[in-house]
Amino acid sequence: MRTQVAIVGAGPAGLLLGALLHKSGIDAVIVEQRSADYVLARIRAGVLEETTVGLLEQAGCVQRLHAEGLPHDGTELAFDGRLHRVDFKALTGKRVTVYGQTEVTRDLMDARLAAGLETVYEAQEVTVHGFDGPTPEVRYRKDGAAHVLRCDFIAGCDGYHGVTRASVPASAITTFEKVYPFGWLGILADVPPARDELVYANHERGFALCSQRSRTRSRYYVQCALDDKVERWTDDAFWDELRRRLPDEVAQAVATGPSIEKSIAPLRSFVAEPMRFGRLFLAGDAAHIVPPTGAKGLNLAASDVGYLAQALCEFYRDRSEAAIDAYSTRCLSRVWKAERFSWWFTSLTHRFPDTGDFGRKMQHAELDYLVGSEAASRVLAENYVGLPMGH
Ligand code: FAD
Ligand code: PHB
Repeated sequence: MRTQVAIVGAGPAGLLLGALLHKSGIDAVIVEQRSADYVLARIRAGVLEETTVGLLEQAGCVQRLHAEGLPHDGTELAFDGRLHRVDFKALTGKRVTVYGQTEVTRDLMDARLAAGLETVYEAQEVTVHGFDGPTPEVRYRKDGAAHVLRCDFIAGCDGYHGVTRASVPASAITTFEKVYPFGWLGILADVPPARDELVYANHERGFALCSQRSRTRSRYYVQCALDDKVERWTDDAFWDELRRRLPDEVAQAVATGPSIEKSIAPLRSFVAEPMRFGRLFLAGDAAHIVPPTGAKGLNLAASDVGYLAQALCEFYRDRSEAAIDAYSTRCLSRVWKAERFSWWFTSLTHRFPDTGDFGRKMQHAELDYLVGSEAASRVLAENYVGLPMGH
């Protein structure tokens, strides 16, 4: 089998890249190790920047997003039992859209199916070869048979645990990592959200986040210990802990109900440099991870593949390698800004086991400064709503 671009991984990065390439007349095959249902069952991000919505628009996948996505003009910060609103729209002129990663993935999958584009699900033993030369290939097994997919380029969109980054010689790659001493326990439930907008809460007992997927479906998180287990948390225990960490007016508005999903995610910051190795490009979680506090993971995955699609388009259309050569630098400039913001917002809102009372006082002083200063609020808002693609 032969294609122009072999994409490894059918998460949001791989699917969006496939859609953007298709719009430019570039042929791509996606090879994914899981089933489509498995990919759709993973509950992850929920907040889309305008830039991400723009890329989905370019990919022709925004009909449902525009109908069902919830535009949010701001967010709320809770600390010391009080609520403070940060008005994104007034401070930056921009808003974000609340629309789940599952829905983005479903829309991209449906569009791919409707266009008759090839995705190989449940591919086993996926490996990548020859990307340091002119004839790269992706090999895999499916239903017991061995397959070889020859291509001009490989896009590594296979997430943090994928095979593409791991196939780069150690001498060619540098990684930077910080593992946080806690995780997030998340719950999804068919109950109306407590507030119209998201609430990020700093509390003595630990961080809590009120998020949502629709007017009838809520997503809540509480900071938990790294070695905590989902099985230890009944739904009632979760709702009690969540409410303890929220100001009274929010806690009283939390509607409870049975969970549809409950999971624990560890928090990590990670960057691999560079993001291009000959004819292999890394994109999304394959190249970098941010703690979810800044809601940047999915948005970075989208901007990476936005740059990559543009670079590949210029290669095929203009025979120019300039954008391909610039890919890694352009992405990494954006990635490090998001890493800084996500690390800072995590540091400001979570309980750290080793910073003690002084650390907590500093968090409160900084939160006070943040909500009291228009300039400081604007910096938070600018980072949260994200940068345009030119940056
Ligand atoms: P992924 O979504 O990880 O997709 C990679 C795909 O590659 C997967 O389908 C995988 O099955 C496939 N794959 C892996 N290995 C191989 C292989 N060897 N061969 C073929 N295919 C392979 N971000 C937020 O903004 N907010 C959140 O609340 C949030 N929660 C998260 C919770 C968890 C548990 C995780 C892991 C991430 C979370 N994120 C969150 C981050 C966000 O979901 C990711 O940044 C986003 O999914 C990145 O998309 P991606 O396509 O790069 O990677
Ligand atoms: C989510 O809805 O899952 C979500 C929203 C905002 C975040 C992280 C997760 O910062």
